[in-house]
Amino acid sequence: MARSPDVRKFFEEYGDQEWDRFKNRVTGKIEYAIHRNFLMQHVRPGDTVLDLGSGPGRFAIDMMQAGANVTLGDISPVQLELAKQKVAESGHAADNYLELDILDLSRFEYGQFDLVVCIGGALSYVHERYADALAEMARVVKPGGRVVVGSMSLYGQLPVFVAGDHANQLNGFDNHIDRAKLANNPGFLITEPNSPVIYMPLFLCTNQYLREHMEGLGFRVLGSAAANPLTADGQKLERIAADPVAEATLIDLEVLLSERPEMADSGEWVLVAAERLAGG
Ligand SMILES: C[S@@+](CC[C@H](N)C(=O)[O-])C[C@H]1O[C@@H](n2cnc3c(N)ncnc32)[C@H](O)[C@@H]1O
Repeated sequence: MARSPDVRKFFEEYGDQEWDRFKNRVTGKIEYAIHRNFLMQHVRPGDTVLDLGSGPGRFAIDMMQAGANVTLGDISPVQLELAKQKVAESGHAADNYLELDILDLSRFEYGQFDLVVCIGGALSYVHERYADALAEMARVVKPGGRVVVGSMSLYGQLPVFVAGDHANQLNGFDNHIDRAKLANNPGFLITEPNSPVIYMPLFLCTNQYLREHMEGLGFRVLGSAAANPLTADGQKLERIAADPVAEATLIDLEVLLSERPEMADSGEWVLVAAERLAGG
């Protein structure tokens, strides 16, 4: 289970801050709008969906709203309890709530789901075992079915250090991210295990790397997106937040630009949607 217990502990303590992260800051509202816009293009009424690393169920509720039948899976019982509460409040009903690690989907059959979703971090938290997690997801999607997966972005994470004025992440940079590896223009990178400021090793990758990885698993890429292409988490946007027209315009622009290939690696998150080929 790699370091999953640490991750579980983090999200137990994080509790409902996870639900609030999309509504308290302008950058969070943008992140939600982009993820939702991208995800919902790939959800069909009647789909059986496995939402992995579901957290408190924000996107699961959106998918149920669109007529999908959703099973939520998360390593954190606290997050699953929150999800039960939030789903009940929404007036929808989930198929199931399962405590699970994305590295072990053995309870599911080959080709069981029309759509497997894993967005918002779980893939990056399994660090060097990301390929095992993606292979498990590929196994449980039916031929012709889809996946929507997201990873923290290799290049898009760096503006977050800057926007948040994180001097501690630049001071001793190589304790967090190996500069020599970065200089070699890698498709992916795992942050350093003993970094004192990045709380766990994270898998970071480029848009192209994730797309090619899914193709290697027998998928056809349907689309990809960056979240957020124009802003980074931690950026102070007080004047925009105080001006509803400016805020709405920024959210619209971010969504508009999120799927442009030119923006592919500019956001903190890389999102890829792909269809499993018959025989794939
Ligand atoms: C940042 S939240 C994202 C929640 C939701 N998908 C979203 O985008 O709003 C990441 C979630 O992944 C879960 N998680 C982390 N590692 C996991 C693993 N190995 N298996 C299953 N869930 C995991 C955490 O408990 C947490 O609820």
